[in-house]
Amino acid sequence: MNSILETLDISFSYPGTKANALNKLKLAIPEGKRTALCGHNGSGKSTLFLHAIGIHSPASGQVLWNNTPLTYNRKELKQLRQDIGLVFQDPEQQLILNTPYEDVTYGLRNAGIPEPEIKLRAEAILRTMRIEHLAHTPIHHLSLGQKKRVALAGVLVLEPKLLLLDEPTAYLDRISEQQLIEELDRIHRRGITLVMATHDMNLAYAWADWILVLDQGQCVMAGTPAEIFSNTQAIQSLGLDKPMLLDLWEALPETSRQGRTAPRNVEDFKILLQECLA
Ligand SMILES: Nc1ncnc2c1ncn2[C@@H]1O[C@H](COP(=O)(O)OP(=O)(O)OP(=O)(O)O)[C@@H](O)[C@H]1O
Ligand SMILES: [Mg+2]
Repeated sequence: MNSILETLDISFSYPGTKANALNKLKLAIPEGKRTALCGHNGSGKSTLFLHAIGIHSPASGQVLWNNTPLTYNRKELKQLRQDIGLVFQDPEQQLILNTPYEDVTYGLRNAGIPEPEIKLRAEAILRTMRIEHLAHTPIHHLSLGQKKRVALAGVLVLEPKLLLLDEPTAYLDRISEQQLIEELDRIHRRGITLVMATHDMNLAYAWADWILVLDQGQCVMAGTPAEIFSNTQAIQSLGLDKPMLLDLWEALPETSRQGRTAPRNVEDFKILLQECLA
């Protein structure tokens, strides 16, 4: 498995704090996959993302982008931030322009995209994120969920090589969440690597190809959703929930489940349930 981004024993503490937010963190993001980054509050997920785009640099250890250590010179950082898109946990940190339309077109204009194409791409992503009716509304008039959708639209529209999403579904209603996931799947099919930090274990289980679990600034588990969530004890001791579908599946008699792979979505669960009960 080729890694697009890797951290080699990186340690970091925020100015004025003693504890390490990242503590010799060693992990790899597999290229072309959908990775869920899990871990309780304060485990280091957002701090890792800020290291990926060079906003923070480690006190020790190295960050590798495409197998090459970051050097943090200005030219490299500029390119890095075109190649890696980060949707911040807090949309207020991300949105600096006046309206959603301005925000979404800004990055495209910076990337030198011709004006007619900018308009088409901006309108398409505003539609996808269900904010086209808010395109020219002042951002400070929007609700938190609407702001989050603008922040997502502004980064998704740029189609970077690696997309880092920090709690992208927080504040989103059901429909917006479903549409976001469909959009992410579309982007993923185009070969873009995705990483999503999330507290939603049901989503991580259903969506991810690969899961990384952080605890106290270290990566304590890495594996497929099936591998990670089969370790109930470890999951619980890290303060994470077992995905509901898997929990229900495991409640069925073992004889019914034998030879079958655990379902990852409700439709598959229904089919398997009918087979098991037949
Ligand atoms: N700006 C900051 N100044 C000082 N300490 C910080 C700052 N941001 C984060 N930390 C500390 O760094 C550690 C890691 O925080 P981080 O925000 O990376 O966690 P997280 O896994 O993203 O948590 P959450 O699930 O709450 O988003 C925590 O102990 C936190 O208190
Ligand atoms: Mg965070």
